[in-house]
Amino acid sequence: MESGDGEVVSNKQVIFKDYVPGALKESDMYITTSTIKLKVPEDCTNGVLVKNLYLSCDPYMRNRMRKLQGSYIAPLNPGSPVSGRGVAKVLDSRHPDYKKGDFIWGLTGWEEYSLITATETLFKIHDKDVPLSYYIGILGMPGLTAYAGFYEICSPKKGEFVFISAASGAVGQLVGQFAKLLGCYVVGSAGSKDKVCLLSECLWLFVFFLLYLALLLGLL
Ligand SMILES: NC(=O)c1ccc[n+]([C@@H]2O[C@H](COP(=O)([O-])OP(=O)(O)OC[C@H]3O[C@@H](n4cnc5c(N)ncnc54)[C@H](OP(=O)(O)O)[C@@H]3O)[C@@H](O)[C@H]2O)c1
Repeated sequence: MESGDGEVVSNKQVIFKDYVPGALKESDMYITTSTIKLKVPEDCTNGVLVKNLYLSCDPYMRNRMRKLQGSYIAPLNPGSPVSGRGVAKVLDSRHPDYKKGDFIWGLTGWEEYSLITATETLFKIHDKDVPLSYYIGILGMPGLTAYAGFYEICSPKKGEFVFISAASGAVGQLVGQFAKLLGCYVVGSAGSKDKVCLLSECLWLFVFFLLYLALLLGLL
């Protein structure tokens, strides 16, 4: 269903049950189906009604499952759909910057359709000649994090050494590629053999293997 004509449709949702102190379990969330009217309510100034297309699962979301105070991002609301970043298509809008048919990325819900009221977290997608899923990756928050962290904060020069922890993660694997593109000497670490294999296929971490081999052979 893609119209914004006010039709009422079913809406499958992943609901966050309650704050989790220890390790997260599958039972801390559940799937339910509710209904939603595909129209922004009249009293919802600046609201946007979207069909979610891609949803991202990121490490920062774990912290939102704790009852944190004073964090840069609010905790999740128990009993509500999990909130996270995603790519969506606008079905109806009362926001001057978004119209029906636009594609956006930003904070949305783990559900088929969302009424987004916190529209300040949204970005309109202008370049659609790449897969839309890139906007939860290199063109979304992980990409922005990697770009700002590497070019604006770390800001190394060509030929310098760059070490990347969690190098196979969403952010780390981009930083590794930025560093290689800049002509840096890149070393990374990752927590499992599979992750290291993934990186070695990208060829930018062969140095890691040389060091690892040297350690194994007792050369270092
Ligand atoms: N993704 C985003 O959009 C985004 C945005 C803003 C900030 N960040 C922050 O950037 C960092 C990386 O994010 P990501 O999305 O790329 O994460 P990620 O790689 O998917 O997951 C985090 C990785 O960090 C490593 N790790 C976990 N605990 C660690 C510890 N105690 N010491 C050292 N390494 C540890 C683990 O990798 P190994 O097992 O391979 O070591 C883990 O898989 C996180 O701190 C995240 O909160 C991410």
